[in-house]
Amino acid sequence: MALQTSELTTDVTIRLVGESGEGTISLGELAAKMLTKLGLEICTFQTFPAEIKGGTVMFQIRARAGEVLTEGDAANILVALTEDGFVSMGGNVAGDGIILYDSDVFTPPTVEGRWLLGMPISTMGKVLKDSLRSELEGDQVARLPAPKNMIGLGALLTLIDAPLTPAEEYIKELFGRKGDAIVRMNQRALNAGADKVKEQLEGRTIPHITAQERTAPIVTVSGNQMIAMGALAAGLGFFGGYPITPATEIMEFLAKELPRFGGDLIQAEDEIAALAMCIGASYAGKKTMTSSSGPGISLMVELINLAGQAEVPVVIVDVQRGGASTGMPTKTSQGDLNLAVYGVHNESPHIVFAAASVEDCFWATIEAFNLAEQCQCAVLLLSEQSLATKKVTIPPPNTAEIRIVNRKTPTEDQLGERYHRYADTLTGVSPMSSPGLPGGAYVATGIEHDELGNPGYTPELARQMKDKRFRKLDTLVREQGSQYAHQFGPAEGPLDVGIIAFGSTEGVIREATAAAAATGLKVGHLHLRLLNPLPIEQVEEFASRCKQILVPELNYTGQLAGWLRSQVGLKLHTYHKDEGVPFVAKELIEEIKSVAAR
Ligand code: COA
Repeated sequence: MALQTSELTTDVTIRLVGESGEGTISLGELAAKMLTKLGLEICTFQTFPAEIKGGTVMFQIRARAGEVLTEGDAANILVALTEDGFVSMGGNVAGDGIILYDSDVFTPPTVEGRWLLGMPISTMGKVLKDSLRSELEGDQVARLPAPKNMIGLGALLTLIDAPLTPAEEYIKELFGRKGDAIVRMNQRALNAGADKVKEQLEGRTIPHITAQERTAPIVTVSGNQMIAMGALAAGLGFFGGYPITPATEIMEFLAKELPRFGGDLIQAEDEIAALAMCIGASYAGKKTMTSSSGPGISLMVELINLAGQAEVPVVIVDVQRGGASTGMPTKTSQGDLNLAVYGVHNESPHIVFAAASVEDCFWATIEAFNLAEQCQCAVLLLSEQSLATKKVTIPPPNTAEIRIVNRKTPTEDQLGERYHRYADTLTGVSPMSSPGLPGGAYVATGIEHDELGNPGYTPELARQMKDKRFRKLDTLVREQGSQYAHQFGPAEGPLDVGIIAFGSTEGVIREATAAAAATGLKVGHLHLRLLNPLPIEQVEEFASRCKQILVPELNYTGQLAGWLRSQVGLKLHTYHKDEGVPFVAKELIEEIKSVAAR
């Protein structure tokens, strides 16, 4: 049968929902690969329950010809493998969207304009799985999900008029480790899904995804992978970590790759030990990093101060998740800003830096290492669940642009019996030796100390050394503060609305501001990456151009707005929520318009 196609689509949002444990993520990853193969750029989003089995997994892919800033909003095509998934995450479908569903388990309500396309996916999956029983061990069969996801993939690819052959290869790559029989079953499922959906396409026009010619190389990567690769590029020598969702993948990636670059990795007994190991290894001269999420960062607080007092560089990645406590570990949030900025006892200098996109996870990690080395203190690098698991296609980072900063080390003259490890310099930065360097021995300690490292508690010494340590941050913000933020919108002149934000929201804010600007509003956007010390002058300069300032953020209390008010004293409109999911452009456009009208 010849299919009728509409020469449609260079911007499509596909949402996949199913039960956790039944392979929705595998389905999403293969569909995303296929769209990439067609020359489109992709941005994905996934959300899943904390349980290994049960509950709804959602995987969304936006594919476009050209830059993709967000994972999209209303789905053009929804593939619903379960009724629960349809009810909880299937609501937002475009008016003329297609809903491909498992007719064995439910029937979605009819909506004028939408195409409901039911297939007996469960029955087909069971038949395919049963055909394997004689070839597998009993427990292998028990653990094997029926290949409903690959039936869905075959149907989906046929629906968008995409070829199946590359998908057969991808199935081999993905499931090859499970054995030939399982690969063959999944390839059969793919073709069965394609054949079955064709029975219903007679007389229908299906969307044709217009393949694009790719002229430059791309990589498909997630935020967690980019942080791990950024750390390798920055010269990571030691990683100490303890697994926690959604940061674990950073450690898993580095466990494989770091030894190839001559580094070491230890899975510690807990987060406290992990950071302590990093501080020790950094004292010994290595560039070090740990990664965790909110609950793990809480445990590290004491040691963040040790790094500050003893002036030891270390990078601490916080992949933020919904909370508090165990909270919503597999959902996204920007709820740890206060913890990062204020979360030390007493006061000690530390830096807070935030990655703005998956691509920026690479560059922000390098900056985090550079700042840790430069200022000899802990740098908290904020990422988020949505960045961590999001896959995007981007050009490979241009390694020629990588700039590496190493810690200041003592000259021959500075070494010797009176080596001033904590020399009170103009910038606050003092030369740091490492164990084994003749004349470079010193005591690195959290106790208050003089320039040589000897304990001391006089009021004069307390003031002098605190001044010296905090001076490093003053120097940083004065000399480099304006380098780190990304700025979008008109570079000069008055703005109706200026947006100040941080973290994963950069893409969706860019999309929203472009749409708002198209209605005639003048909208600017300052996206902060260096959050502590705050580049106050840069914020004030931007704010001076804005009639109204909007601060959108993904936490319950408006933490960035609070931090800005405490430092700069601006009149701000806040838009904040902490519901485990990212913003969509539509809600921000509404917010921008409403703020502009005030
Ligand atoms: N044929 C063979 N195997 C298949 C298959 C198919 N057609 N489809 C999926 N599978 C396998 C996958 O390979 C995977 O196997 P693996 O565990 O050996 O890697 C497994 O089935 C699950 O499929 P996948 O697509 O990866 O995930 P899913 O969409 O079913 O979602 C998770 C399940 C990943 C969300 C869930 O298991 C999970 O990890 N939840 C989060 C737990 C967590 O972090 N909690 C927080 C604790 S604080």
